[in-house]
Amino acid sequence: MAGKALSLLPPLLLATAGLAGLLLLCVPTRDVQEPPALKYGIVLDAGSSHTSMFIYKWPADKENDTGIVGQHSSCDVQGGGISSYADDPSKAGRSLVECLEQALRDVPTERHAATPLYLGATAGMRLLNLTRPEASASVLAAVTQTLTQYPFDFRGARILSGQDEGVFGWVTANYLLENFIKCSFNGVFQPPLSGSFIAFSAFYYTVDFLRTVMGLPTATLKQLDAAAVTTCNQTWAQLQARAPEQKARLADYCAGAMFVQQLLSRGYGFDERKFSGVAFQRKAADSAVGWALGYMLNLTNLIPADPPGLRKGTAFSSWVVLLLLFAALLLAALVLLLRRVRSTKAQNVI
Ligand SMILES: *[C@@H]1O[C@H](CO)[C@@H](O)[C@H](O)[C@H]1NC(C)=O
Ligand SMILES: *[C@@H]1O[C@H](CO)[C@@H](O)[C@H](O)[C@H]1NC(C)=O
Ligand SMILES: *[C@@H]1O[C@H](CO)[C@@H](O)[C@H](O)[C@H]1NC(C)=O
Ligand SMILES: *[C@@H]1O[C@H](CO)[C@@H](O)[C@H](O)[C@H]1NC(C)=O
Repeated sequence: MAGKALSLLPPLLLATAGLAGLLLLCVPTRDVQEPPALKYGIVLDAGSSHTSMFIYKWPADKENDTGIVGQHSSCDVQGGGISSYADDPSKAGRSLVECLEQALRDVPTERHAATPLYLGATAGMRLLNLTRPEASASVLAAVTQTLTQYPFDFRGARILSGQDEGVFGWVTANYLLENFIKCSFNGVFQPPLSGSFIAFSAFYYTVDFLRTVMGLPTATLKQLDAAAVTTCNQTWAQLQARAPEQKARLADYCAGAMFVQQLLSRGYGFDERKFSGVAFQRKAADSAVGWALGYMLNLTNLIPADPPGLRKGTAFSSWVVLLLLFAALLLAALVLLLRRVRSTKAQNVI
């Protein structure tokens, strides 16, 4: 009896395999689009009074498209700017650790090695490099030493010129507003002939000071010019009386206001009509508007894109052949099974 049951096993197995093949081929399938992998980039904005870290992200398959890069998270480094550690450079490196630890958590582990990390230093370090070049070099060496200890793709710590800072700020602002025509961008900036335009951080803080603290209108270029002149004509005591809490920055507003007015009118060629389209903002599209994003956009332009996610598909004709093959297998197995069953019955009768 057991031998007979055993003799039925091969055709049964064959039938099962055929059936399984048919079922698998007939399971409804649909085309699946793999969610685009995200890429990340980190910029440390080492300003004169403090350092901020910005983490950006963008879909890996669209990295050259405009308006794609967004801010993922940010972190404010505790303590002063890195130039304030001129007398004890190793502390400049250590001051960044807390934010870098946050970056380790914010960027997925599998992306760490492919995430570019930049440090750009501005006014404070420019000044230190002028007065004590060896101290500025030690501070940069100290932060470099700290940054290379992290698993990110560290691309260097540099001092940006004032001009770089300006260019990258405009790049950021107008990238966020999608004013760039395709990310024609080469660090070269052209104001658009029409449309809105945003003026970022230093511009924002200067104009905000003229409006709120000085109580001066800044709606037109002429008013901006007059507001700058009025601010510059204030005595130190008058300025201090107006905004005692801003004492550290008060000395800069006269020069700042003049610079903004001159840069907008002469540098970038805004006339009264185009000036009405300029908005002074601190943030755009949820990203802080500073030079950091523009800097990263320019420098990461060379990162190759990930290949798109691939899935295997079966051509229709091969699918039909497979279907017929499994059907034939199933049929053959059934015929075999039937014959075996018959022969066992016949033996039983005998
Ligand atoms: C410091 O200033 C000198 C002279 O302007 C310049 O050549 C050098 O590149 C600066 N250092 C850094 C790190 O930018
Ligand atoms: C942008 O990046 C390129 C390549 O890294 C560099 O040659 C160029 O000078 C950068 N643009 C600015 C304005 O620094
Ligand atoms: C500058 O201030 C002085 C005294 O406060 C005033 O007489 C003068 O008109 C001001 N000049 C401008 C250009 O506002
Ligand atoms: C983005 O631009 C770079 C340099 O022009 C190029 O090598 C890269 O393939 C581009 N990436 C995509 C996704 O088009």
